[in-house]
Amino acid sequence: MPALVLIGAQWGDEGKGKATDQLGGSVDYVVKFNGGNNAGHTVVIGDETYALHLLPSGILSPGCTPVIGNGVVVDLSVLFQEIDDLEARGFSCERLVISADAHLIASYNRTLDRVAERFLGNRRIGTTGRGIGPTYADKMNRIGIRVQDLFDENILRQKVEGALDLKNQLLVKVYNRNAVTVDAVVEELLSYVDRLRPMVVDSALLLNAALDRGETVLLEGGQATLLDVDHGTYPFVTSSSATAGGACTGSGIPPGRVDKVIAVIKAYTTRVGEGPFPTELHAADGEKLRADGGEYGTTTGRPRRCGWYDAVIARYAARINGVTDFVLTKLDVLTGWESIPVCVAYEVDGKRLEDMPMTQTEFHHAVPVYEYFDGWTEDISRARTFGDLPKNAQDYVRALEQMSGARFSSIGVGPDREQTLELHALL
Ligand code: GDP
Ligand code: IMO
Ligand code: MG
Repeated sequence: MPALVLIGAQWGDEGKGKATDQLGGSVDYVVKFNGGNNAGHTVVIGDETYALHLLPSGILSPGCTPVIGNGVVVDLSVLFQEIDDLEARGFSCERLVISADAHLIASYNRTLDRVAERFLGNRRIGTTGRGIGPTYADKMNRIGIRVQDLFDENILRQKVEGALDLKNQLLVKVYNRNAVTVDAVVEELLSYVDRLRPMVVDSALLLNAALDRGETVLLEGGQATLLDVDHGTYPFVTSSSATAGGACTGSGIPPGRVDKVIAVIKAYTTRVGEGPFPTELHAADGEKLRADGGEYGTTTGRPRRCGWYDAVIARYAARINGVTDFVLTKLDVLTGWESIPVCVAYEVDGKRLEDMPMTQTEFHHAVPVYEYFDGWTEDISRARTFGDLPKNAQDYVRALEQMSGARFSSIGVGPDREQTLELHALL
């Protein structure tokens, strides 16, 4: 079995962690290919809840090897804290491997992320403040620090010096902060090297060799299609490639080896941070969705903005990612609504659009065109087959599937592993 990609279709927090964890038991490798500890994936196993940030969700499946790919940005203090926390709860992280090419989040980039946001005022992105944007900017600017640099102190020192030449100007002259010393940065990074060394591998070599042997690799995306730096609602995006294309560049697995693209999509829509969101609900309805869905950020605890399902976004995600299967999540959260609106198209400046508009300005002006579906009141959290769902819930799912551009292969009716209805096998 070749490689599978699993990504988010909307603005993140679709339930990718649960979906990855479910597949984790049947795959050999789970690879995180983009982002860093801006991600927050919640996995519920029985009475226990695990919040994962930097670690691939496959870490909870004893049979699979979790991989932090070259496309990820790694904050070493967060990495080891997460490992320690999981090990204290009885999960071994011994299998974890990390790409030598992954970039490191240095302390000055955490600082710069936060002060830059403050500086932007009402033009801020609403980042997670974890240093993600500045670290990817350094990567593109060719002044980044990579995992492998820790193995050569001379090179590390030179690189940190080069980065700080620029960063200290910014910190001191633009943002009125203290300068950072090369020694302090080098010392902090090197304090992790002994613990890190045994985990570091050529992950592209490892993964391609695994595929040659017929093993299965799941590439797990952080963030989501509309947060992708190229295909998302720029500039209100993250700084990495969160779409299926990013799975290849972020892991070193070529496109021809990818067999399936699974997109996780919520039965409604949420977004954290700033930026346009056509189906957003502002008053009591939005608060009800937030309360019923527990829509508070796993990483920052911020309340998530909530709105109705947007089929224009689903079709866009299907197209950009080449989605073969959708995993629909949180259908249970919609229980109790008399009527459920679904956005089937946009009206932009008096014209009906079935697809995402070309420009960001038009997207800001997009007014949802809604179709209304009859709701249901029955508790569906114990449903285990599609047939267990009330007819109105079945009709809602089938209608979404019909307008979303790929088949629905699984439906979530609760956070637990068990609370899943399988329509088509994903593996
Ligand atoms: P991710 O970032 O895509 O992994 O998603 P998050 O973990 O940030 O947010 C999804 C939340 O929904 C988590 O708290 C999950 O435990 C929960 N969840 C996932 N699937 C379902 C579902 O089908 N129903 C309900 N009620 N909760 C779900
Ligand atoms: P998961 O993997 C939801 C959002 C932030 C902000 C923007 C840029 O859990 O789905 P960044 O810190 O990345 O520079 O912030 O992206 N964002 C997320 N929103 N889920 C996430 O990850 C996110 N990761 C980043 O809120 O709007
Ligand atoms: Mg999340």
